[in-house]
Amino acid sequence: MVDARSFADVRNVILSAHKNVQAEDKVGFYNDWAVNYEQDVALLDYRAPLLAAECIALFFKGNQEQAVILDVACGTGLVSSHLRRLGFHQFVGVDGSEKMLDLAKKTGFYQELHQCMLGRDPLPVQNDSYDIVVIVGALSVGHVPVAVIRELWQATKPGGYICMTTRGNGDNLKYKTELEHMMRMMEEEQRWNCITVSEVEEWEKAVAEQESGYIPGVVYLYQRT
Ligand SMILES: C[S@@+](CC[C@H](N)C(=O)[O-])C[C@H]1O[C@@H](n2cnc3c(N)ncnc32)[C@H](O)[C@@H]1O
Repeated sequence: MVDARSFADVRNVILSAHKNVQAEDKVGFYNDWAVNYEQDVALLDYRAPLLAAECIALFFKGNQEQAVILDVACGTGLVSSHLRRLGFHQFVGVDGSEKMLDLAKKTGFYQELHQCMLGRDPLPVQNDSYDIVVIVGALSVGHVPVAVIRELWQATKPGGYICMTTRGNGDNLKYKTELEHMMRMMEEEQRWNCITVSEVEEWEKAVAEQESGYIPGVVYLYQRT
């Protein structure tokens, strides 16, 4: 049982993470945060896992029960938990944080879980294998490098879907621009087609001093050619 947390606790935790610029430091941060993660993101009104899962369920045209989903940067399993509620059942998870993976394992949702430092180590899954690849809450500054989206594409079956999210607030704008540039380049290379881009004003509650209310975010859905 963890203590009840306040919004101020959550704010302090997240602001402390901004000092960790290297992805390795960030994963250490998630190891420490794991035990309070779900309680804290609920206080933040963190809607990204739900919004990504709803986007996938809306556009995926195949058999949901048979679809195999790669949940990249799965954390404690929030994305897969929403996808299960929407009719999907087969999940493989990847994350850099051992403690987050321990909690993901306890959900019982995942057929396989792999520890991997994305950007440093290759994605530890077979190419051309997944009906859906999803990454939520990890394509942002100091987390997963933009170039990793080529590995997400590679893991997806031809005709499969890749769902990605990022934040649209001040400290992430440079990363978001680079991410969208890479997405466009891959479209020009005819690797995938954009199915939908959904800009969301109320993504999660703001924590930075210069921000108030909610920060914006985006859900992107691409289909591999
Ligand atoms: C905000 S959490 C999101 C977790 C889950 N997808 C969700 O939406 O609740 C970010 C996750 O990304 C993982 N992560 C961040 N950078 C990573 C990297 N370079 N390689 C692997 N995992 C990383 C963290 O360990 C953490 O579990």
